[in-house]
Amino acid sequence: MKIAVLCSGRGSNLLALLEAHAQGKIPGAEFVAVIADSRDAGALNIGREYGLQASVVPRAAFHANREGFERRLLEVLAPHEIELVVLAGFQRVLGATFLDAYPGRVVNIHPALLPAFPGHMVWADEVQYGVKLAGATVHFVDAGVDSGPIIIQGAVPVLPGDGPDELAKRILAVEHRIFPQAVAWLVSGKVTLAGRVAALKGFAPTPEQISQTFVWPPLED
Ligand code: GRF
Repeated sequence: MKIAVLCSGRGSNLLALLEAHAQGKIPGAEFVAVIADSRDAGALNIGREYGLQASVVPRAAFHANREGFERRLLEVLAPHEIELVVLAGFQRVLGATFLDAYPGRVVNIHPALLPAFPGHMVWADEVQYGVKLAGATVHFVDAGVDSGPIIIQGAVPVLPGDGPDELAKRILAVEHRIFPQAVAWLVSGKVTLAGRVAALKGFAPTPEQISQTFVWPPLED
């Protein structure tokens, strides 16, 4: 399955995907292109190192013209015959112009346990709110903001004294684990969608797996 990755920044999630792929953990995936919305994005070099075609579609060049920006993204992607678009730290909301071209074929990673804390820069909000569990979500992209069907979530504890940076670091580690897993499931056709509920074909967790619930602060027993 031919995959394009859209990024805006350093690209650690892109790297996690490419490393997992290099280790044979995403069978059937072919990462062919990385597009960044800024030429400063570190993700471009990571993509190049792994042999992806790296392109820049500078958002700044389109000002208030989101449709034009999305049409340009589609033009850049078109020759690659992409089957899955992965948003890995892509700081733009995509609308119908883009999404209609890849129905059910765009996924995103978000650094919170959705539907809590959608949007940008969520870590400070999580700390201020006092949540005890934070985490990350991989989800299909719909026309809303971080509102599409959830494929996988990973939880991490929020520790006393955590600031946004400490929390972001802990969440990023779980992002790097769940994103390659989600993409592997998508590539192998394991993910089904009924309404807004995504599920895994043949999913039959063992009682031991089900008991691995994450309670925080830990129970005293
Ligand atoms: C990640 O925290 C991701 O969840 C968010 O932006 C950050 C991107 O980091 N959407 P990186 O560029 O993958 O290192």
